[in-house]
Amino acid sequence: MPLVPAKNILIKAYREGYAIGAFNFVNMEMLQAILQTANNLRAPVIIQASEGAISYAGLSTIVSMARTLAGEVDIPVALHLDHGHKLETIRACIQAGFTSVMIDASHLPYTENAALTRQVVEIAHQSGVSVEAELGRLMGVEDTVSVAERDAVLVDPEEAGRFVQETKVDSLAPAVGTSHGAFKYKGAARLDLERLKKVKEKTGIPLVLHGASSIPADLLQEAVDSGIPVGEAKGVPLEEVQKAIKLGVAKVNIDTDLRLGFVSAMRRILAEKPETFDLRKILGPARGKVAQIIADRIQALGCANRA
Ligand code: G3H
Ligand code: 13P
Ligand code: ZN
Repeated sequence: MPLVPAKNILIKAYREGYAIGAFNFVNMEMLQAILQTANNLRAPVIIQASEGAISYAGLSTIVSMARTLAGEVDIPVALHLDHGHKLETIRACIQAGFTSVMIDASHLPYTENAALTRQVVEIAHQSGVSVEAELGRLMGVEDTVSVAERDAVLVDPEEAGRFVQETKVDSLAPAVGTSHGAFKYKGAARLDLERLKKVKEKTGIPLVLHGASSIPADLLQEAVDSGIPVGEAKGVPLEEVQKAIKLGVAKVNIDTDLRLGFVSAMRRILAEKPETFDLRKILGPARGKVAQIIADRIQALGCANRA
């Protein structure tokens, strides 16, 4: 199918109480793993490329791979720019064929974030492209920190409501205690669900959970066994993600789980078969491992059979 705007699939998920998996890709194998698995499970899906992925693979390569492979499956697929920082990149992505963009101006003061987001919404909506923005700082917050410290970092629900009204953004990533990468928490892995509930009440639009990799025990063990030094890694438990979905999260961003799976599988093959130098025998099993992880996540998010 041709690529669709993210808004179309997110609103349906939001209303019906499930979430869409938004999976990062940087190469053909990752993209194939995402699209083939989502298609097998009849799940709408968001494929996302960061600015880093775009400079690694090239903008036109990302878009042509996405269009070609999405064209071969029969599920709704949106191509999303993950963490866009520069207006220039956002414009280039829209022009090249992305159907959704994120403006991440969360490091700026509220007024500047809102003004820049509003500007991106005006540009993107002219081309039917959806927009995601972010409020608050993405970081794990320990149970021991004070209320004031927590408030200084995490999203303010009142402000989130005002932000959505002022910017007309299509979806919002509120900081509720997740962070990117493999080391999300030192203490208990928990989301601020009370805060999320208030954000839902104040905003009324699909919410996005960044930093949502779970790093389950079996994946962590495989990564450590393959030689990746991530023994202390801690992700967001899937049950926490599922609670968040009940509170308005309709897009769940997953990258770290896929990277760990891909690289662990590659490293295992390289260690077991040092004589192998056929790329397909190394990247093929890595693609298969990523496909398994994606299948598990799609089932957990409740988006299978929603296409
Ligand atoms: O949120 C960040 C994603 O995991 C992409 O990471 O900027 O290293 O491509 P990246
Ligand atoms: P993880 O690092 O938890 O996979 O988060 C990815 C993400 O938020 C991409 O925007
Ligand atoms: Zn993110």
